[in-house]
Amino acid sequence: MYSIFTSMKVFSDPWVGHPGLNRRGMHTKRVKAAMAVARFRRAQTVRVRDADEQHLLDHGFVAIPGFLPQDEFAALKAEAHASAEAADRATPLPEKPEVWGFGDADRHEWGFDRFDGSTLNRFIAPGPIAAAFPRNTRFKRLARLVTGKAMRAKRNWLYQTVNGDETEIHDIQREFHRDTFFNAMKYWFFIDPVREEDGPFVYVPGSHHLTDARIAWEQAKADAAVEARLQEDRKGMTGSFRIEEGELADLGLPPPRTFPVPENTLIVANVFGFHRRGDAVPGTRRLSLYGNHRPQPFLPFGS
Ligand SMILES: [Fe+2]
Repeated sequence: MYSIFTSMKVFSDPWVGHPGLNRRGMHTKRVKAAMAVARFRRAQTVRVRDADEQHLLDHGFVAIPGFLPQDEFAALKAEAHASAEAADRATPLPEKPEVWGFGDADRHEWGFDRFDGSTLNRFIAPGPIAAAFPRNTRFKRLARLVTGKAMRAKRNWLYQTVNGDETEIHDIQREFHRDTFFNAMKYWFFIDPVREEDGPFVYVPGSHHLTDARIAWEQAKADAAVEARLQEDRKGMTGSFRIEEGELADLGLPPPRTFPVPENTLIVANVFGFHRRGDAVPGTRRLSLYGNHRPQPFLPFGS
């Protein structure tokens, strides 16, 4: 029973995937309660004070070019490149995953590699300048605006993405999905420019709002996941619900937006909204600071 009051999202969990409780609308109740808690925490911790913050609240994402002053950015960029090159020297980039699908972390002294399909994600322990990034006051406010909680610095990585060949092995992160059933934040602070061919972030503006259509969609997805559990279909029990691009308009949503951005751009997104990793030319790379901020959804106190 306890798990339904946590961030647990997979329907293989006996309570989250409980058929009787779900017939009584449990998933919808969890989504609504978590939304109310996030609103309450936000009200305790932060008030909107500029256009970027308002944009994040209204649209579920914000992209802020020129985020750091030039001298600060130059120091961070030099450190980040040195960290990435040191990791490359210690462990040359692996070319192909050993297993299909969402791979296991391959740990090293400097951090770890993990494949999503053919996409290599290299997470490198941040140097001192990069490690200090989550303490940036403007950034801290954005994290609170999404979740009502400050982000823990240890969830912060230097993140190198190496795009693989989609035709060979599919990367499920390239399908539209929402990460979980409550307001959670991810950020990317881009050290190098991201071009169209580098697999830029894609987000559906306004898809973080809990509209009536979205509630109905959530419940239908939950029903399907419960059914998958009864059929012992592991793949269907995922809690990161996926959506076809063609379904977005049925939910009253606009077309997705793709974000090729210059260096020194911060993207913050509420990943309750629909998003995906953009299409890319194999072999291209992205380098960013990255963090996944997913505080427990039912704790009422902000921080
Ligand atoms: Fe995601």
